Amino acid sequence: MTVVNPTPVDAPGRERQDAYAVSAEFYDVLQAERDEARVRALYRDDVRGARVGVLDVGAGTGRVTLMSLLESRAPVHAVEPARSMRTPLMTRLASLSPELTKRVTVHPQLLEEAGLYGVADVAVCHNTVACLHPESRRALWPAVAEALVPAGVLLVQLPPARLPRHRTTLVLPTRTVGRHEYGGRMVTSADVDRIRTRFDYWVREDGRVLRRHDETFWMWPLSRPEMIAELRKEGFIALPERPDPSVLALRLA
Ligand SMILES: C[S@@+](CC[C@H](N)C(=O)[O-])C[C@H]1O[C@@H](n2cnc3c(N)ncnc32)[C@H](O)[C@@H]1O
Repeated sequence: MTVVNPTPVDAPGRERQDAYAVSAEFYDVLQAERDEARVRALYRDDVRGARVGVLDVGAGTGRVTLMSLLESRAPVHAVEPARSMRTPLMTRLASLSPELTKRVTVHPQLLEEAGLYGVADVAVCHNTVACLHPESRRALWPAVAEALVPAGVLLVQLPPARLPRHRTTLVLPTRTVGRHEYGGRMVTSADVDRIRTRFDYWVREDGRVLRRHDETFWMWPLSRPEMIAELRKEGFIALPERPDPSVLALRLA
């Protein structure tokens, strides 16, 4: 399952530097395996065709970055402003061979602050934009357009199209690490025009809870036609719908 993109509860405009401070510990333990297969299925063919570079916007702990490094021969730019997510990303990259690491650059800012011009012909926003306040989301697109070469392709995993009607709970698959069992759940509910998303995490031993943590984020819904209209203003033209409609593909005109 993909955990949707969180924006911290107290940062309606832009992300705090320590966003994901709680979730980072659990992110890969609870989701890496499934999401690894998912990003390969969603983006592998596109990154294989990259000639100029691949841009991973909101790289997180590095699933798209790593897949891009392994599947393409082009330079990879991983943009990740949150230290807590960038730390496991760097650890993951440090375990790779020098042949691979010399091809990847990690940018520790928001994309709008990274100063990237014409570095990629494929940009991926996987699980990144749903969490952005509409103002922050709209500020992202000109930076994506600048980072792409003409006719570059942008792949965006779409946010939820609408507010949820009911409060829903998604239990994340548990994972055993030594004596400990790691688990979590995501509870989503509508809050006026936003989606409140609370993540509860726990660690158990012999059925006894050793610790619990939670982190709450906001998401802003946007339908596919709304996203296409928003990106058209920045010079992007929608490409035909893909087999998996959760990803919108566009080309820079
Ligand atoms: C939910 S995480 C997803 C990470 C990764 N793409 C994944 O699917 O595992 C979203 C990431 O986007 C990053 N982010 C938020 N705003 C950004 C911006 N303006 N530029 C680049 N990254 C951003 C956050 O720091 C966060 O790590």
